[in-house]
Amino acid sequence: MRVPLIAGNWKMNKTVPEAVTFVEELKRQFPFPGVEVLLCPPFPALWPVAQALAGTEIKVGAQNVYWEDAGAFTGEVSPPMLVATGCRYVIIGHSERRQYFGETDEQIARKLKAAFRHGLTPILCVGESLEIREQGATFDFIARQLEGALSRVGEEEISDLVVAYEPVWAIGTGRTAQPEDAQEVSQNIREWLAHRYSLTLANTWRIQYGGSVTPDNAADLLAQPDIDGALVGGASLQVSSFAAIIKAAAKEV
Ligand code: PGA
Repeated sequence: MRVPLIAGNWKMNKTVPEAVTFVEELKRQFPFPGVEVLLCPPFPALWPVAQALAGTEIKVGAQNVYWEDAGAFTGEVSPPMLVATGCRYVIIGHSERRQYFGETDEQIARKLKAAFRHGLTPILCVGESLEIREQGATFDFIARQLEGALSRVGEEEISDLVVAYEPVWAIGTGRTAQPEDAQEVSQNIREWLAHRYSLTLANTWRIQYGGSVTPDNAADLLAQPDIDGALVGGASLQVSSFAAIIKAAAKEV
């Protein structure tokens, strides 16, 4: 039985005071039995958010990481630094990082390996563009992304893995994948993982859907058998909409 993971990806939003205010308000909405909740604030807010969440079940994650532990890498943040702030998760390979910052599969592979080395659970983002979908090449494309990202990690290195299926054309656009289409891709992802690692592991790992998830569409997406949670951008910025999505996940349990 996979526990659904509802993660808020705040992207480049919220100052430290705004982040802490959000957390205090979100805490008042709890508990949500049977759902794991994760907040991924920008780097400066990681520590204050983790402090504000101390003693709760809500987890903290980062939106990016570098693969070296320390050294002359101006502007980067290492896995041990994330662990020391209280992070348990890290988003890796988000389409915005691939698109705007030129992140490659090779860099993503190094980041994943470094995350596992330090006990961080990666949320590996994959997803096709509209052009790829229209060509009918969605799953070939995603399989290549998975292959590239996981090329450096063997089964013995992976403890927990989350894959977020995020069709690029659905991110921040208000267009959501049809639940059946998202299910089909998620099932393909799980089959790929089962083939690459093992069926047992693939059945324990969670696959999230991301891309314009809202309180209105969350329940239908989360009802799909291979969708085990959501990576939520825009709708995670307000407590009311984020809590409503968590509630939808709690109902599906
Ligand atoms: P969105 O973002 O919910 O605003 O579409 C999702 C994401 O990019 O993770």
